[in-house]
Amino acid sequence: MDFEYCVPFDLKFGRGKADHIGEEISRHGRRPLIVTGKSSAKTGLLEKVEGQLEALGMEYHVFDKVSKNPLTTTVEEGAETARSSGCDCILALGGGSPMDASKGIALMACNPGEDIHGIMMDGFGGRRLTALPIVAVPTTCGTGSECNGTAILSDPVTKDKKGIRDNVLIPRCSVVDPSLMETMPPETLSAVTFDALCHSMESYLSPRSNPVTEPTSLTCMATLSKYIVRVNDDIYDEEALDAVTLASSLVGSAFYASSLIAPHGLEHPLSGLRDMVHGRGLAALTPVIFRHSCMCSAPKFSIVSKLLGGNDETDCARQVEMLLGRIGLDVYLSDEGFCEDDIPWLVDNAFRVSKARIEDNPKVFGREEIAEIYREAM
Ligand SMILES: [Fe+2]
Repeated sequence: MDFEYCVPFDLKFGRGKADHIGEEISRHGRRPLIVTGKSSAKTGLLEKVEGQLEALGMEYHVFDKVSKNPLTTTVEEGAETARSSGCDCILALGGGSPMDASKGIALMACNPGEDIHGIMMDGFGGRRLTALPIVAVPTTCGTGSECNGTAILSDPVTKDKKGIRDNVLIPRCSVVDPSLMETMPPETLSAVTFDALCHSMESYLSPRSNPVTEPTSLTCMATLSKYIVRVNDDIYDEEALDAVTLASSLVGSAFYASSLIAPHGLEHPLSGLRDMVHGRGLAALTPVIFRHSCMCSAPKFSIVSKLLGGNDETDCARQVEMLLGRIGLDVYLSDEGFCEDDIPWLVDNAFRVSKARIEDNPKVFGREEIAEIYREAM
């Protein structure tokens, strides 16, 4: 046995915790850059947070240009904004995209000479880089980014979508208030909750699963499979939403210290090329990949299947399909604009950005089999 586990995070969880966001950020800096998208203004959360900061006498700056599948160019612009406005900490507000963008901005604000695309493709190269402290306030329950040091970014020129990761990017504090999730539209809720379920299944099925991460992955998988349909039927079901929100955050630490496998590995080329919603890409691919993989780690796929209501490894993929049907997430890549001609690029890009995830899958696919998986998901 051989593993490393280092995920220190300060998690403030519960309804009402959003009333204390200003106090939390004031512990980590004097002038925050609020990194967000457009929806936090619409829901009133941005105004609420601004009120808290003003009541504490804190100055702040708002950077609200983060879009779905956050871009390296947005990160560079945000970092420049942080530097020019004299911000000394980051308040990440919103879904997975502002969480991830905030990490890139926190890093690049302290390292203006660095090339974000180079770091994305090659890592820190053994160097110790600094980053501004981050306080994360998620408004979706899927990414888990608030509890780890990973940021997934997309390069608009190369279409590469890949993670940067380092413990320096772990938020100093995460304020996770389930009531903030209630503003999600149904199509967002189904996509993010399935993303969280994939994080739990993949981190468990990964060969890097270890004695610290495995119990978290299994507990979160059990919780998500128990409540995912209920919460998608009624987002105001407090028991279900609280349970799903906590599981989606906790499993963020588990997959960071274990790994994700082929569904996430093969999804990134999809959302990199066509700006597809991450959870929808996972929905199209996961049953197909599980069907191709389940005999290579049969005992674990059997456990996943049973947690989803099935019998053994042979019906695991079918259980995932049935669950997707119940939450209205039947997705085919052809409906998302993909066609046969895209497959060579997708296969090439999968090996370029997701080699480690392909190698961590219980069945290590070659080029032909990956092309076949994309074809079957059409
Ligand atoms: Fe994900």
